[in-house]
Amino acid sequence: MGEESDSPPPEVHHYSSRAEVPWDIQNYFSQRYKIFSRYDEGIWLTDDAWFGVTPEPIANKIAQHMEASAPKDRSILIDAFAGAGGNAIAFAQSNRWKRIYAIEKNPAVLRCAKHNAMIYGVEDKITWFEGDSFEIINSHLKELAPYSVIFASPPWGGPGYRSDEVFDLSNMQPYSLGTLYSEFSLFTEHMVLFLPRTSDLRQLAAVVKGERKALIMHYCMEGASKALCIYYGDFTFDDNDL
Ligand SMILES: C[S@@+](CC[C@H](N)C(=O)[O-])C[C@H]1O[C@@H](n2cnc3c(N)ncnc32)[C@H](O)[C@@H]1O
Repeated sequence: MGEESDSPPPEVHHYSSRAEVPWDIQNYFSQRYKIFSRYDEGIWLTDDAWFGVTPEPIANKIAQHMEASAPKDRSILIDAFAGAGGNAIAFAQSNRWKRIYAIEKNPAVLRCAKHNAMIYGVEDKITWFEGDSFEIINSHLKELAPYSVIFASPPWGGPGYRSDEVFDLSNMQPYSLGTLYSEFSLFTEHMVLFLPRTSDLRQLAAVVKGERKALIMHYCMEGASKALCIYYGDFTFDDNDL
């Protein structure tokens, strides 16, 4: 059996009963069908990936918004922090993109993303890269810059973000907002960042130089905002898109 065999690496699991699940992810496990509606078909996750995966209804809404609003000459979508594939799968289900490029530096998590994309039948629409997104974007994907938009759901530095009334994006670990914006701006001005719902709006505005546009969209489930996206660049929404 090769490296990409059907059996998961040791840190990857498909839990089928609560009794198997480590205590700190039991809450997430009880939400499993909101995270992946096809969970029972054999979704794979590492224990850490549970904390970061974008729940399917939110991933679908973001995909719908990006499809409707991205500049028309952009046909490539780069998911810079693919994780277990929550967002990449939703993007690949849309016919808007010629190609999705998904980058993940953790090999076990990348295996989950590929496997999960297979369950959703979209693995062929995604080109996967294992490694550091800042490096890969500027080396392997450079020639695609004029056709691309970047979507990035970076790590937020652990669950501590929940207790902050206003989340300080200059201190976000391991990549601050400033780092993300300046690194990705070297490649494209059209980028969407998925960030904590309490993100400091002044900081979100302050990275934009000159007259450039920035739109903030909150993504809610059950009447409460779960997170926001900041749309930097020429994303244009009309009322029918929302
Ligand atoms: C919040 S998770 C992404 C979740 C994803 N959107 C989903 O729905 O499954 C962030 C991911 O970024 C990965 N990561 C962190 N730094 C990275 C880097 N420099 N390049 C590529 N991936 C990175 C982490 O391993 C983690 O899996």
